Amino acid sequence: MSFPEVRPRRLRATSGMRRLVQESRLSVDCLVAPLFIVPGTAVKSPIDSLPGQFHFSVDLLLVEIRELVDLGIGSVILFGVPDLKDEEGMVACKDDGLVQTAIRAIKGEFPDLVVIADLCFCEYTTNGQCGVFLDGVLDNDRTLENLGIQAISLGKAGVDIVAPSGMIDGMVGGIRQSLDGAGFLSVGIMSYAVKYASAWYGPFREAVRSDPALSADVGARSGHQMNVCNSKEAIREVVEDIEQGADIVIVKPALAFLDIVSSVSQAVSVPTAAYNVSGEYSLIKLGGSSGLVDSQALMVESLSSMKRAGADIIISYFAKEYAQTCLSK
Ligand code: PBG
Ligand code: ZN
Repeated sequence: MSFPEVRPRRLRATSGMRRLVQESRLSVDCLVAPLFIVPGTAVKSPIDSLPGQFHFSVDLLLVEIRELVDLGIGSVILFGVPDLKDEEGMVACKDDGLVQTAIRAIKGEFPDLVVIADLCFCEYTTNGQCGVFLDGVLDNDRTLENLGIQAISLGKAGVDIVAPSGMIDGMVGGIRQSLDGAGFLSVGIMSYAVKYASAWYGPFREAVRSDPALSADVGARSGHQMNVCNSKEAIREVVEDIEQGADIVIVKPALAFLDIVSSVSQAVSVPTAAYNVSGEYSLIKLGGSSGLVDSQALMVESLSSMKRAGADIIISYFAKEYAQTCLSK
């Protein structure tokens, strides 16, 4: 059958009809809200590069999380932004570190919230590198040892899931072994299995104050993050990480990589997360505030496209705003 018997417009004619036949549905259940933690108390300071996002001290972080929970958000991912950094970033492994302190406080008040901690060193090293940087290269295997130490300190604090983001070879297996060895059998690993060397991370690097020399420099991480022109390599990376014990895999960025979100989610049977990164968020927000685009419509459209592509989980700075939109409907 074809036109005139078939008229696809029938199913688009009313909002009720469109709602009934919609193929994929975005829900707050799949959203993870990223949060940035700084030292001090009573701090909630706007992040210039991420309009609508803030640096929080732990006390006000809890206030923000109360709002998120009331809006139906069930998961957060934490990033520490310390004042003091060191050469290898070992400040990230302290039992009383920023993220560790935040996890204890959050779990005390919101035991059911799924708390994820980003696991890398670039927020903690003076040079902004993702691990031990020697003679101009990132030392893979020494970084692995340090990742295990950081993972255990997060486990002790009560984290639900660690999210290693450095694209270090063997990171998932190494972290699994460290966690299990320390008795943290139930801490999950959400691996940034497919992370491209992308310019879409620019606003995040401002927000965590990684070395200014590195901030906008895609090349600086090209020795470990993936070439944006590759897609078969993405499958190789997720398969490798799942063999090593990844519970969830992340594709990052999301919007310019929906082909990868799609192929990864079809290739694997663990949940696939899409990371709607800082540049994707900030460009939409800035486009909205300059009157060029409707930022709220673009938010819904872009999050929906990730869902349609096959993302089971979406990590997004839009999490709160999207949840507010749902509530006001
Ligand atoms: C590394 C990390 C980065 C992001 C998440 N984890 C930055 C990087 O790889 O340079 C980027 C997130 C974003 O741009 O929103 N700890
Ligand atoms: Zn890093």
